[in-house]
Amino acid sequence: MLNGKRILLIIGGGIAAYKSLELIRLIRKAGGALTPVLTRAATEFVTPLSASALAGDKVYTDLFDLTDEAEMGHIELSRSADLVVVAPATADLMAKMAGGQADDLASTLLMATDTPVLIAPAMNVRMWEHPATKRNLALLEGDGIGRVGPDEGDMACGEFGPGRLAEPQAIFDAIMARLGDGPLSGKHIVVTSGPTHEPIDPVRYIANRSSGAQGTALAAALVRLGADVTFVTGPADVAPPQGVRVVAVETADQMLAAVQGALPADAAVFAAAVADWKVLGASGSKIKKDGSGAPPALALGENPDILANVSQMETGRPALVVGFAAETDDVIAHATAKRARKGCDWIVANDVSPETGIMGGDENAVTVIDAQGAETWPRASKVDVARRLAGKIAEALA
Ligand code: C5P
Repeated sequence: MLNGKRILLIIGGGIAAYKSLELIRLIRKAGGALTPVLTRAATEFVTPLSASALAGDKVYTDLFDLTDEAEMGHIELSRSADLVVVAPATADLMAKMAGGQADDLASTLLMATDTPVLIAPAMNVRMWEHPATKRNLALLEGDGIGRVGPDEGDMACGEFGPGRLAEPQAIFDAIMARLGDGPLSGKHIVVTSGPTHEPIDPVRYIANRSSGAQGTALAAALVRLGADVTFVTGPADVAPPQGVRVVAVETADQMLAAVQGALPADAAVFAAAVADWKVLGASGSKIKKDGSGAPPALALGENPDILANVSQMETGRPALVVGFAAETDDVIAHATAKRARKGCDWIVANDVSPETGIMGGDENAVTVIDAQGAETWPRASKVDVARRLAGKIAEALA
């Protein structure tokens, strides 16, 4: 529930603005309070009256409305909320935010606020993929701005691709993750997921078959319990979950740097299938056959062990560090030894022999090993395993 929590909802001017009315309804239903702010362009898509009626509060539209300034100045307005949500965040609004412009009420509030900000971008696919939007997004993420979406699909303009506003329910879930009173609210958890790609040259790489399904399901389950999740993901098959801070990486070295950059955290869960080896001196240009018939010699070097690094941190170690162990034989014995060797608190072990269908499949059968011993859970969907593991993490951090 969002009881007593106030959200400043900035509605940008895009065709998706109508969906923000449904978002207002969801926030109100959960007991949250809302102050909507419409940009001038937004008023062309939804009326201030409908936003005000659904929000049950006054709607603000213009910086230079002196009556409003007398009632509540823009500085106070920007700071009276627990969270500022921008939905839809248009390319224009994102550019203003990234550039620090403040030429209307919405952009001024975003400059003046000291409250966490969550954006839900929505725009034409070409605009989303434009280098300027990418630059702006990188700046906003660097400033710690949270993001939900955009989704991929058919767009009002007749094109297809990423750029659709995330569904109101997904934006609401992301709000709940930040403000809701779940057992993990206020806890920051870092999750790694997916494979890593280790380049051989600009077009070839060494990889593994991890889909990222278990790490993604776990991150989603943690968000549902209210955790603030930083999701460090290699190039996975499945899309990252909604409501997390995504840090996309390719290599193990990048993953380690991203994890270190995301700390401090209350817990860290390492579900990624990190490549053990990288190619030393990867070629900067595509390796060509030289006509001799001899293959190129690849020199491999060991990758950093991210789990062991974090488990063995002398200062700032997360209170709970969880590793995974994919084994094909003697699962419990190997995983128990791995827990001791790496220095983590728990190891979630599973048998990934091809006949189990677990690697790349929808189900998992795990044994959780902690200081007390091993506990084997019945085979279940990766989503259910994630839910149970998230519950155990919540108990441990309580
Ligand atoms: O040693 P092994 O790869 O089996 O260990 C698996 C566990 O260690 C997983 O939790 C995985 O995410 C983590 N790991 C890591 N960095 C590595 C190798 C594994 O974080 N370089």
